[in-house]
Amino acid sequence: MNAREIAGAAARRLEAAGLEDARFEAEVLVREAAGISRAAYFAGAVLDGEARARLEHWLARRERREPLAYITGWREFYGRRFAVGRGVLVPRPETELLVDVGLDAVRGGRGAVVLEVGTGSGAVAVSVAAEAPEATVIATELSPEALRFAALNAAAHAPGVQLVRCDLAAAVRRADVVLANLPYVPSGEIDALEPEVSAWEPRVALDGGDDGLQLIRRLIRDCAERLRPRLLALEVGFGQADAVAAAGRSLGAAASTLPDLAGIDRVVCLRWA
Ligand SMILES: C[S@@+](CC[C@H](N)C(=O)[O-])C[C@H]1O[C@@H](n2cnc3c(N)ncnc32)[C@H](O)[C@@H]1O
Repeated sequence: MNAREIAGAAARRLEAAGLEDARFEAEVLVREAAGISRAAYFAGAVLDGEARARLEHWLARRERREPLAYITGWREFYGRRFAVGRGVLVPRPETELLVDVGLDAVRGGRGAVVLEVGTGSGAVAVSVAAEAPEATVIATELSPEALRFAALNAAAHAPGVQLVRCDLAAAVRRADVVLANLPYVPSGEIDALEPEVSAWEPRVALDGGDDGLQLIRRLIRDCAERLRPRLLALEVGFGQADAVAAAGRSLGAAASTLPDLAGIDRVVCLRWA
């Protein structure tokens, strides 16, 4: 059997495991297991025994609903490959909006200090640093496992990013622009999420407390009372933007909201004069 025929059989297994995008995922797994390009895949490349064994192992993992990106070991974000795996959130496409907001805020200026709070794989901080080398980029994170991935990704794409292990922004003294995609899922809703998230991604990356906004409110307060950045941009979940904007206004900020590509209010921008 060639690669495409093997992928056809793999897709049937993944479909039976309940995956929506089984055909696409089967192709990705076959190509990654064999280390072949799309062109070689469509040209009918043949898999050797080692690639077949690797694919079999990966399919069994995916059937248990382990995230595809944990199995392949990477996810593309803002045009770059980020190493991911157990212990770190897989960066989501909608989070690219936070990078756009950060870049708009620093481009054309001179040497702004950008702080990303809760950097996970480093996707946001590393993308900003790679796209705007004139900025100083600091990224904080509580989880040592996540920080290990952030360090790998910074080394690959933007070695100047300063990684700091601390609670929110506690160890940082100054920032002009603060970006954060903090955990925002209400604690009681995590178990109802798809298994790739609820069973595999770290709780510390998901759990935002009773209403999902516990960490976000703490960071807004720290920015209002201590850091005073000119911009705090926060990614939020569906239906949370109004409450987050109100929390910012109650602490003296002007608030605005940006929609993602699906039209969901996704980033709340808070500005202090
Ligand atoms: C939703 S994930 C986002 C990760 C990454 N920024 C992204 O967008 O892919 C939230 C991150 O915040 C980290 N985190 C949770 N609580 C934190 C805290 N108190 N201080 C710093 N980081 C925290 C988690 O470990 C996780 O990596």
